[in-house]
Amino acid sequence: ISSSKLDVYQLTMRPANVEILPGVSTRALTYNGAFVGPTIRARSGRRTIVTFGNRLGEAANVHLHGGKVPASSDGYPMDVIHPGLARMYDYPNDQPGATLWYHDHSHHTEAEHVYRGLHGFYLLQSDDEQRLGLPSGQYDVPIMLRDALFDDSGALVFDPTDPFNRPTLLANGRPQPYFPVAARKYRLRLLNGSTHRVFELDLGGVEMTQIASDGGLLPEPVTTTNLTISSGERVEVVVDFSAHPVGSQLVLNDVSGPVLRFDVVQKAVDRSSVPDRLRALPPVPQATNTRQMTLSLDPVNIQALINGRPFDHTRVDAQIRRGTTEIWRITNSDTDVGGSGFGLPHNFHMHLVQFRVLDRDGRPPLPGESGLKDTVLIQPGESVRVQATFGDYLGRYLYHCHMLEHSALGMMGQFEIV
Ligand code: C2O
Ligand code: CU
Ligand code: CU
Repeated sequence: ISSSKLDVYQLTMRPANVEILPGVSTRALTYNGAFVGPTIRARSGRRTIVTFGNRLGEAANVHLHGGKVPASSDGYPMDVIHPGLARMYDYPNDQPGATLWYHDHSHHTEAEHVYRGLHGFYLLQSDDEQRLGLPSGQYDVPIMLRDALFDDSGALVFDPTDPFNRPTLLANGRPQPYFPVAARKYRLRLLNGSTHRVFELDLGGVEMTQIASDGGLLPEPVTTTNLTISSGERVEVVVDFSAHPVGSQLVLNDVSGPVLRFDVVQKAVDRSSVPDRLRALPPVPQATNTRQMTLSLDPVNIQALINGRPFDHTRVDAQIRRGTTEIWRITNSDTDVGGSGFGLPHNFHMHLVQFRVLDRDGRPPLPGESGLKDTVLIQPGESVRVQATFGDYLGRYLYHCHMLEHSALGMMGQFEIV
């Protein structure tokens, strides 16, 4: 069904045997049988309705990460789809073009569900963006990066207590795939769909031009050779393969090993470009309230905390009057987890809003943080200040560490817009 004002999708969550490792069958949780779910394509200003059916045999739900959606469609942890039932989610798409994604958010089971495959892209396109002349169509490529641990039989192993032991890196659900490219510019929409890993990427010293982050285009492109992407974050880059002769190979590497190979296979005519100015960001209203959020693990009680407390869905942690602009200072106090001498990075994701990163320990944000963000990495001991305006919808929304093993242990809170 499709009318002129709305797009309709139907996805079924179900276990399926999929091929992740070459020639090996792996049981995964899927949308419509695909290990990385089908890519939903939406347009700014045009509503999308997605009906999600649940054939998993257990409760699950769906969250549109980065989306400005009514609370009833946000995938609140207790607001689940029971097995055998279906639910319509309403996505108004009343926001600029951006690389969003959808994933499970069910209480205490989000990490395992996402790890086992309940993740997919939601690409929001806007007309203004199309006028810029960036690489488009087949030259605009979403790439979900994540990690996994497989046992000898090819089964996915989920061990939330040992998230660092996930040595297999996957790009769009495949280990070290290669991607044939033409000698021209490509737009690569990189998403870290891992539940825990921080990717630290390079392209063997080749320059990448970052054009967008979580909430869409940056004000201006930023040239770099290294990208750090924590769980849930998106970084979009334009890579120009025209400087590399046909037959050359470029490898996208993480610090722990290769992720993906680009093989330049043919010459091409390229009419795309990257303008010097990408977009004007909305003005930043004066903040009228500030809050402190301190993240810490409690390894003794096997809990993860914000401001000393684990998530409690009966407690509202921050009540916010609609339209208010606030500054939140988020501190990662895990410099020495459980007396181990080791610190642990966290990150911080807010539902509903796209925020500005104001500073890191009083220093300017990183160049790639000049646009709108919904997820920000915070190193051990670091404090990051972000600013957001809580407009639009009333109701309860989450904020949490997007290392989902941590949010599942309680590193999550909720604000209520009244
Ligand atoms: Cu991507 Cu609350 O999650
Ligand atoms: Cu989210
Ligand atoms: Cu964390």
